[in-house]
Amino acid sequence: MASYPSVRDLDLKGKRVFIRVDFNVPLEKNAQGQVVITSDKRIKASLPTIQYALEQGAGLILASHLGRPKGGPDPEMSLAPVAARLSELLGRPVKMAPDCVGPAVEALLPSPGEVLLLENLRFHKQEEKNDPEFARKLAALCDIYVNDAFGSAHRAHASTEGMVRFVPQAAAGLLMEQELKYLGMATSHPERPCVAILGGAKVSDKIEVIENLGKIVDKLLIGGAMAYTFLKAQGQPTGKSLVEADKIDLAQKLLTEFASKLMLPVDHIVVSEIAPGAAHETVETIPEGKIAVDIGPKTVTNYSRVLATAKTIIWNGPMGIFEKPPFDQGTVAIAKAVAKSGATSVVGGGDSEKAVKAAGVSSQISHVSTGGGASLEFLAGIELPGVAALKARS
Ligand code: 3PG
Repeated sequence: MASYPSVRDLDLKGKRVFIRVDFNVPLEKNAQGQVVITSDKRIKASLPTIQYALEQGAGLILASHLGRPKGGPDPEMSLAPVAARLSELLGRPVKMAPDCVGPAVEALLPSPGEVLLLENLRFHKQEEKNDPEFARKLAALCDIYVNDAFGSAHRAHASTEGMVRFVPQAAAGLLMEQELKYLGMATSHPERPCVAILGGAKVSDKIEVIENLGKIVDKLLIGGAMAYTFLKAQGQPTGKSLVEADKIDLAQKLLTEFASKLMLPVDHIVVSEIAPGAAHETVETIPEGKIAVDIGPKTVTNYSRVLATAKTIIWNGPMGIFEKPPFDQGTVAIAKAVAKSGATSVVGGGDSEKAVKAAGVSSQISHVSTGGGASLEFLAGIELPGVAALKARS
């Protein structure tokens, strides 16, 4: 039993339900200068809660931030394109509010069956400051608050944390529950062997995650540029590969602490310069002047062997410069090995998710998190303020 209420536990009929969603979607201007959504994954991930609340007879107020506006309205970060896309996905009208608090919003409050999307919460600087007055104004709009914004749960903002204490009732949405179920299961009572794969550019971004997962998992497979800081700490040559000089001592400490669990690449794809079409070769020792850009085939074999025995896999971060093919091959091979293992697999982080898609194995992954920063903080063992606020209310 979770220590916070679920939206399923509440009677939503005839109620005005405020759902904090994470509609922080990537936007781009097309050739005609129109702002278009380049991935609607987060909108789709929110649909189960939205549809459930509508079926129960609620009127919905949806609220989100988008981007990082400088504390005032910015038309380029309006949620209006999201309202249009959501309306298409739901097959019903979605009203767009001109603001997120104040008389203009109060005049639009939804009746049962209606959906109102508030304008970007971060157009008010009080949102990120977790200002209690602003939180009270948001809370006054609704009968029930539902937090379905897992991707923003690591932020202690007015809409994710502050308003929870001012609303009559508060609960977690279905996406939030799903995220916490998988991430919680993988980190608190995983079926063993439990294997973590960590990649990405910098050790400094993942220190807490390595320290926390190191205590939980049976094996920790390291890839991406952060592997070279570890190799340097072992006294191995790293050529011109990315190494964080100020993290070598820490890498040494982690190598000692988790000696029986940590695995590092044993071969590498190297180039002289990172440029389109640059000649590359596979080496076991990185030559002077060369830059390692991906894990090599022996490493893929080693890691795949470990993954084949795993019952739980946690993956965050690519194994190489994934965005520059052919240096995506190590990451794609790992995605295939994760899928083939049949283990319960939890993937977080934009690039690992792209790799899973590129490898065509998305349907074989148990859970792909919608949270980047939030999933990393969760894996680091940090309590997410948005979740703590729900627990405190229950
Ligand atoms: C995210 O995309 O990670 C969340 O929406 C949080 O956004 P933020 O990093 O701007 O707070």
